[in-house]
Amino acid sequence: MHVVSIDQFDKDALFELFTKTDQIKEALTSPSGRKKLAGKHRDKQICTLFYEPSTRTRLSFETAGYKLGFGVVSTESAGQFSSASKGETMEDTMGVLDGYGYSAVIIRHPETGMIGRAAKVAKTPIINAGDGAGEHPTQSLLDTYTIYSNFGRLDNLTVTMGGDLKYGRCPRSLAKVLAKFDDNHIKFVSTKSLAIGQDIKDFLKQNNTTYEETSDIEKGVAGSDVIYWTRLQKERLDEKDKGLAHGFIIDKNTLKLMKKDAIIMHPLPRVDEITTDVDDDPRAKYFEQAGNGLLIRMALLDTIATE
Ligand code: CP
Repeated sequence: MHVVSIDQFDKDALFELFTKTDQIKEALTSPSGRKKLAGKHRDKQICTLFYEPSTRTRLSFETAGYKLGFGVVSTESAGQFSSASKGETMEDTMGVLDGYGYSAVIIRHPETGMIGRAAKVAKTPIINAGDGAGEHPTQSLLDTYTIYSNFGRLDNLTVTMGGDLKYGRCPRSLAKVLAKFDDNHIKFVSTKSLAIGQDIKDFLKQNNTTYEETSDIEKGVAGSDVIYWTRLQKERLDEKDKGLAHGFIIDKNTLKLMKKDAIIMHPLPRVDEITTDVDDDPRAKYFEQAGNGLLIRMALLDTIATE
């Protein structure tokens, strides 16, 4: 199976993956569990091919691979260090990698739709690790797993998403997953210039998920169960948007406006949109969220490699 879009995951597929993720989390707590996991995929290999910088996605996929016993072959800065720099097409690259017998090829690329192009021709399972402003499905999986593991549900939640909602792929995908479940309400907090796309608003309407838009951070975070914050995606801004500012910072004062049992999430990296003195608050879950990335990617690789 290729993993190109979060749309591929219906409720059953999500919960099946979450159950496996919980089992892996438990297994990792004991030496015997870790040994069993590390024996699962010996003599198999995965390949990571990143044409864009990454800390979490690449390292967690590679660590997930090692913990499951895979050999891991990696190219970071693939635009520079792979033969893409000599003009090789993605299609030809896939044709070559198909001959190497990988269990999965994990790709990040700056161009929206490029991973779909790779998946169209590849016989090897392709995992989208982020394609420009398009999708980052495994981020959506770890985001929803984090919400689920904190609340025990993915319905009847008020979720605030703030920051760069125009160029950020994570809030767009998360909104689409939340729309699969009942009685969720989404609050979008941004400047007008960085507002969520009309396509997402139309999608929410079609799926009977209510939403509101505001540029008032106090109104945005009050009463919400989940506060999902994002940085300005400087590397993706159109020429006309180069001077835009993020505008919304979560700090100690913002914490006072939030529910006592709210959770604060961020896909990371953070720039300055959440001040570091928020990190000690028990509601700050962004490092736990990043840790869940390893677990969910282990579950995904195990699923793909045992199909
Ligand atoms: N959240 C995320 O995708 O982080 P990286 O860009 O570091 O992989």
